[in-house]
Amino acid sequence: MLNVVAIREDFPILKREVNGRPLIYFDNAATTHKPIQVIDAIVRFYKEFNSNVHRGMHTLSQEASELYEEAFSVVAKFINAYSWEEVIEVKNATDGLNMVAWGWGLFNLRPGDEIILTVVEHHSNMLPWRIVAEKTGAKIKYVDITDDGDINYDQLEEVVSERTRVVAITMASNVLGTIVDVKRICKIAHSVGAIVVGDGAQYVPHVPTDVRDLGIDFIAFSGHKMLGPTGIGILWGRRDVLEDVKPFRVGGDTIKDVTLDSIEWHDLPWRFIAGTPHIAGMIGFAEAVKYLMRVGVENVRQHDIELTEYTLKKFEEELKEYIVVLGPLDAKKRTGIVSFNVQNLHHHVVAKSLDSFGIAVRSGGHCAHPLHYRLGFKGSVRASYYIYNTVEEVETFISALKIIVTLRDILSRQLVEDRCTGT
Ligand code: ALA
Repeated sequence: MLNVVAIREDFPILKREVNGRPLIYFDNAATTHKPIQVIDAIVRFYKEFNSNVHRGMHTLSQEASELYEEAFSVVAKFINAYSWEEVIEVKNATDGLNMVAWGWGLFNLRPGDEIILTVVEHHSNMLPWRIVAEKTGAKIKYVDITDDGDINYDQLEEVVSERTRVVAITMASNVLGTIVDVKRICKIAHSVGAIVVGDGAQYVPHVPTDVRDLGIDFIAFSGHKMLGPTGIGILWGRRDVLEDVKPFRVGGDTIKDVTLDSIEWHDLPWRFIAGTPHIAGMIGFAEAVKYLMRVGVENVRQHDIELTEYTLKKFEEELKEYIVVLGPLDAKKRTGIVSFNVQNLHHHVVAKSLDSFGIAVRSGGHCAHPLHYRLGFKGSVRASYYIYNTVEEVETFISALKIIVTLRDILSRQLVEDRCTGT
């Protein structure tokens, strides 16, 4: 069990008020808040160790390099990687997924090869493959969802063939919350020799992740969705498949030696980390990972289930006639994400109205437009939970929604003018 009262004390931002009410932050799938331990680690780096890494014999550079390199081992331990050398620092999950599509896909795919995606994919795990398919002549095939918001595994089995080279799949949907059976997908894909690329952005922060047990080939995830700073993400790849990826961003620190005629690439992971890295970000991220290891991701999972189960129950009991829920109705099949629509009320109006109660949610297409179109919506409202959220906050959220639905006629005439791009 999580000690949520103690955890909340670690997050300075939770003391904020918004629109005269205590902040209720339910936009964790977009980004989580940062505990004081992470903030302090970043500040300490700049105050005491600031220096470039791998480029100096002087003490500060050596100390900074040591702290920076230690971060890779912390992340490796968290996901049970075979080695820290399989941990590639990237900007975010999107960046990691692009690295596989461009660095592996562009060089390994041929005309007629097939890439399998699902309709659930975040644009970040769809668009890079679509562009690379255009450039290589490979073909994209889509797998649908079932009526209860799960991946259609039977269809996947039918679609996979000897021509399949890649199955790129979200491990947990950023809209439906659906937790995907990654092991099952790996078994299907590997039976025809295809690689499996996992978008772990919504999975790794919420579900205990053991890359060896999953048997997957690549996973990309973002630091900022798991208590770390923005601008830091990880691409993990098994060494044998990583060796097949061409560095697609090259420059400083990616090589062992260069002459005018030849390039000798650096060892893993450095050959993929071009230029001065996000040193403070990586150190801050390692602190976030240590925090999650102390809390225990199994406990994060239980907490997600508790809050999600409670939300779905309240929706069913008190808001059923106004609300359509997206995704599985069984909380155990989801992460801490509940997306929904209020009938006859635009998703942005619902989100803006919730903001007036101090409640932060995301609204729009959540960078998963094809999924929304598949479900017959242009967008949705998404409440997403993390370790500092409470049942009491969910109660306030439900009460606010009950007021909002009674005001639907007035609210539906409202124009939402804000800086949300709506995507
Ligand atoms: N990908 C993030 C989300 O789903 C930003 O909100």
